[in-house]
Order: sequence, then structure tokens, then C-alpha cells
Amino acid sequence: EKVILAYSGGLDTTAIIPWLKENYDYDVVCVCIDVGQGNELDGLEERAKLSGATKLYIEDVVDEFVDDYVIPCVKANAVYENKYLLGTSMARPVIAKRLVEIARLEGATAICHGATGKGNDQVRFELTIKALAPDLKIIAPWRIWDMSSREEEIAYCEKHGIHLPFSADNSYSRDRNLWHISHEGLELELPENAPNYDHLLVLGVSPEKAPDQGETISLSFEKGVPTALNGKIMSATDIIKELNKLGGKHGIGIVDIVENRVVGMKSRGVYETPGGTILMEAHMQLEELILDRATLTAKKEIGNRFADIVYEGKWFTPLREAYQAFIDVTQEYVTGEVKLKLYKGNIIKQGTTSPYSLYNESIASFTTGDLYDHRDAEGFINLFGLSLKVRAMKMASLDKK
Ligand code: ARG
Ligand code: SIN
Repeated sequence: EKVILAYSGGLDTTAIIPWLKENYDYDVVCVCIDVGQGNELDGLEERAKLSGATKLYIEDVVDEFVDDYVIPCVKANAVYENKYLLGTSMARPVIAKRLVEIARLEGATAICHGATGKGNDQVRFELTIKALAPDLKIIAPWRIWDMSSREEEIAYCEKHGIHLPFSADNSYSRDRNLWHISHEGLELELPENAPNYDHLLVLGVSPEKAPDQGETISLSFEKGVPTALNGKIMSATDIIKELNKLGGKHGIGIVDIVENRVVGMKSRGVYETPGGTILMEAHMQLEELILDRATLTAKKEIGNRFADIVYEGKWFTPLREAYQAFIDVTQEYVTGEVKLKLYKGNIIKQGTTSPYSLYNESIASFTTGDLYDHRDAEGFINLFGLSLKVRAMKMASLDKK
């Protein structure tokens, strides 16, 4: 029988290979899924086979990740607990979906992942597998074996004839893809500690180290989807790549949060989402101009619920689809151009234009125009304030008694 292993080439997923063979007698098919994490893929096949795998797939799903997962989250302005742009959360379902596809291709009966028993990732992987392939067995070694340190894992590998150079470093626990990188562990584990940004940051610099000179960019959107950067038409994937460089350079999109995990615990993490932060800010600035007040309010609520669903790993559910359908309708006229200045961690508005802007200068300006008569406001306020006036009168009469 065959098992599909979500494989990165790192120590954790390498140690899983002999463990699966020893404990289940499986043939292990490794799958490394490229979501833009930018790690070295050369030599990975040799590494997997040296560790006892029968086969290695390397699957580039970056465009699918961007088009089907990232962009819906941008349209929704999906942010978890007001801060986290969901980079890890939105990548898990596309990874698990591809694992299922390869399980079918290979006729495998199980899928194995290297997420721990304490986190969100196990939930996201497994809810996706359950939704797409309820018959497949799921194996999560970290909930089963009793290895708990890198030293033990290395010893286990050596005992099974795997002699690979594994770095001894105990760095942050990180997860990277095209949208972001997350950092957890080390000094971050104590909320009273300041983050060591010199040591920690990967995609850019802190605002203090950013250039003194700001940089102005323009972003174009069509129906809520980014289509051009600085007037140059590009795929959403390429726009995010470029924005990551620009945002990283100017110290944008660094978030330090204590968040609530699905499994109940609070956890401290730092996220770098340089390009995504710019993209979402630009998208929101465009929506300010285009969406009416009630739609904007409803969209914000749905967007928050959408973020919770993504965080919880419930991507493949009817509720996520329904929220996404609502959001898509709101994006029909979210087309236009946004100019922004990037400066030491800040994103400063430089002007927004759209053929569908509802901003009407003759109404909004302080000089009187035809469409808006100041005198109408008096009647409006009388009715708008009627209930609170009635209540105040009642209170006053009760006081007198
Ligand atoms: N806490 C974040 C989340 O739940 C980041 C998880 C990072 N995952 C990892 N395997 N390092 O989305
Ligand atoms: C893990 O525990 O595998 C990473 C952290 C998380 O999933 O939240």
C-alpha cells in the first residue's frame, strides 16, 4: 500500500519516511508542493530517495494558489483578528487538494503530513482531505511518535541509514509562500519580549532601516483583481512578487500578533506580508470610492467571517462558497487605479481614480450645487433623531415625578 507524504526536504518530513515504513510498511510517495516558498528544489529527489521514498513529485501550484485562494481573500479584504493576512491559512487547502489529487493518481490509501498536534495546520490539512476524499486515512506522526527534539530526529534518521547534513540550528518555526512568511518560537514565545527584527526578518527590513526616500507606485484593478503595476499589465502572481520586493524594501507589512489558534491556545507570531499588505490597502482604497455605505458595511462583516473560515481550514465548505459568491457580486465595479507612496512602513494615499466612482464633487464640495439642498438636511435630521428625542422627553418626565 502507498502513502502520500507532504514533503519539504527538511528534517521533520525526512524522519517521517523511515517511520512510515517501519510502522506501517507503506511505500512512501513524497510530494513537495511549491507555493512560492522559494526554497532550493535541486537535489530534492535524490534526498527523498536516499531517505527511502519510492518517488518524489514536485508540484508548482503558485498560479492556482494566487488565482483561486489569494485573490478571493484580497477581494474579501480577509484579515484574521484585525491583523493577520492569512498567508499560511490560505495555502493549506491548495496543498492538501494537490496531495489528494496525487493520492488518486497513485492509488494511495493514506496521506501523511508533518504538522504538530498543537497547531492550526493539522486542522486545515485534515479538513480539506476529509472534504475532498473522505475515504483516505490521515496520518499525523507528531501526534503519534514520541520524538520531541531535532537531536532525536537526527538520531532516528541515522539509525535508519539516513546520513544527511541537517543543520543543528534551532531557528524560528517558519512558513513561507508567495504571500507571506510567518515566524514563531524563540524570543517570540514570551509576549513580554520585543522581536529581534535583525535576526528574524526575511522578506524585508524594519521601518527604521528603510530608505529615507519614499517611492510612489500605481496599481490597477479590474473587478477587484489586480491587473497592472505602474501601468504595466502583469499577472497577479507577478504583481505580488514585485510588490513583495517594494514592500520589503520600505518596511511594509510586518505584523506582530498574539492570535487565537483554532485549538484554543493563544500564540505569538510575526508575519511579513509586504506585497499583500500593499495590495489589500490599494483594494480597500478603491472600494472606498466605489461601494455604497451599506454594501461596504455588509462586506466588512462577511469579509471577517470569511477570514475566520479560512483561518479554521474550512475552505471546502458551502459556507465559504456562499460568502465568496456574495463578495464576487460586490466586485463588479471595483475597477480603477490607486496611487500610493511607500515610506518607512507606511502606505500613503496619492490619489485614486475609477470610472465607477460614486464620489460626486458637486454634492460633496462646500459650495452649493443642484443635487444637494442644505435645507433638506433639517427635515432629515428631525426624523433621523426622532426616536432619541422621544426617549429624552420620556426620561425628563420620569425625573420630574
Ligand atoms: N499561526 C499561523 C497560522 O495558523 C502560522 C502557522 C505557521 N505554520 C508553520 N507550520 N510554521 O496560520
Ligand atoms: C504546527 O504546529 O505545525 C505549526 C503551527 C500551526 O499549525 O499553527
